[in-house]
Amino acid sequence: MSDSTRRSLLVTALAAGVSLAAPRPAAAEDDQPGADERPKKGDLLVFSEGEHEGSLIKPGDLDLGGPPLHAWPKDPTSSVIRSGSRLNEILIVKLDPGELDDATRAHAADGIVAYSAICAHAGCPITAWVKGSEIDKDVLKCMCHNSEYDPRQGAEVVFGPAPRRLAALPLAIIDGSLTIAGSFIGKVGGAQPG
Ligand code: FES
Repeated sequence: MSDSTRRSLLVTALAAGVSLAAPRPAAAEDDQPGADERPKKGDLLVFSEGEHEGSLIKPGDLDLGGPPLHAWPKDPTSSVIRSGSRLNEILIVKLDPGELDDATRAHAADGIVAYSAICAHAGCPITAWVKGSEIDKDVLKCMCHNSEYDPRQGAEVVFGPAPRRLAALPLAIIDGSLTIAGSFIGKVGGAQPG
């Protein structure tokens, strides 16, 4: 580009009121310290979407048998919502405790279980709650390549190409609040590039 062309572009940009500074990310919340740290014991859970986005999720917000709610962890001390990494998004679903296998029940709170919302195949977000292809129950389903996970059995893969189960997040109910009781169990994220 010649000097005169560069000058004329600059003049045009200034005349149009165009900022030449690098754009700032819009989501200031994501820049806060701790926003991209993985969920920690003691974190609370807030809605990650919908009309209640950012509000605390209480046990009574969940319907027995689903569908799952999508959530972010929230540091109760700093009030930072850990939405700085997509790997922190969580699915929460309330099930009949009698349907859960022993290991799943051990991490559940009153039948409420939580898993990473990121598919273990190629890392798409899991968006569907539908009747399983090979089991007669609702399952967590990734629509990218149709992997299905059974939340009653520790999100074991029950259909599709995913190589492993979803990471599980232990829960507890403390003083009436749904609370994270430990770190993710298992690897979070996809096993191969999308
Ligand atoms: S990324 Fe979910 S099935 Fe492939």
